[in-house]
Amino acid sequence: MSVILEVDGVTKRFGGLVAVNKVDFTVEEGSILGLIGPNGAGKSTLFNLIGGAYRPDEGRIRLDGKDITGWPPHRVAREGIGRTFQTTALFQELPVYLNLAIGYRMKTRSHILDVIFRTPRARREQKEITQRVMEVLAFTGLAEYFDRLAGSIPQEAQKRLAIGIALMGRPRLLLLDEPTGGVGPEETGRIIDLIRKVREAGITVCVIEHKMKMVMGLVDRLVVLNFGVKIAEGPPQEVCSDPAVIEAYLGECIA
Ligand SMILES: Nc1ncnc2c1ncn2[C@@H]1O[C@H](COP(=O)(O)OP(=O)(O)OP(=O)(O)O)[C@@H](O)[C@H]1O
Ligand SMILES: [Mg+2]
Repeated sequence: MSVILEVDGVTKRFGGLVAVNKVDFTVEEGSILGLIGPNGAGKSTLFNLIGGAYRPDEGRIRLDGKDITGWPPHRVAREGIGRTFQTTALFQELPVYLNLAIGYRMKTRSHILDVIFRTPRARREQKEITQRVMEVLAFTGLAEYFDRLAGSIPQEAQKRLAIGIALMGRPRLLLLDEPTGGVGPEETGRIIDLIRKVREAGITVCVIEHKMKMVMGLVDRLVVLNFGVKIAEGPPQEVCSDPAVIEAYLGECIA
């Protein structure tokens, strides 16, 4: 197994607050890594650093050995990292298929004039987008909702749509920030099934999650953050019996 992602001594400060403090870990290609920790531990900030929304104050981030530290988000995305956000960012007033198509736009090169004059390039890209939208609709199980407004489909389906948008650009690594947030226990299973399917498709996954039961059955390895510092790392069973983790998590971790 080779390492796909390497987070090496990464630090991010907001004024006097050290939100992420010299964090190190690696992710094996084809695996699922869980990132847990109490509120404010620095989990989303870490994703923002990997995804390029923030630039680290210290440390390096490497994808397949290539240093991508400080790259802007669109470049990181083109290099193969897809992501979802903690607060689902959908175009609520647009149909599901258009939400997916917009997710693909950054990969295309058509200039607005290509679109207006319907040049061969624009037509080719249109065809490509349509095909990819169909694939992702099928993959995420959203075909039945394709022309429904994104804001009108069930919460759980909206979460799958957010994952679908991130999949449009064919990432090698997918970062999921609380993919089951705000979804009831019965519907959480469908999202977990989708995450497993993503991994079976050969995509490596890093997932931030609060629901410990879900994490335990899903991930290969866990990284635990507390006040920006990595306090534990390893196979989920091992990490959850670690006294420091139990203390930081107020016992919630006992599966
Ligand atoms: N843009 C920002 N400016 C200033 N402080 C920030 C910013 N983003 C995050 N922080 C702070 O950094 C710390 C880590 O926040 P972060 O959102 O990464 O935590 P988290 O682990 O994702 O928490 P949660 O589980 O609640 O989502 C918090 O104290 C937060 O208030
Ligand atoms: Mg967060």
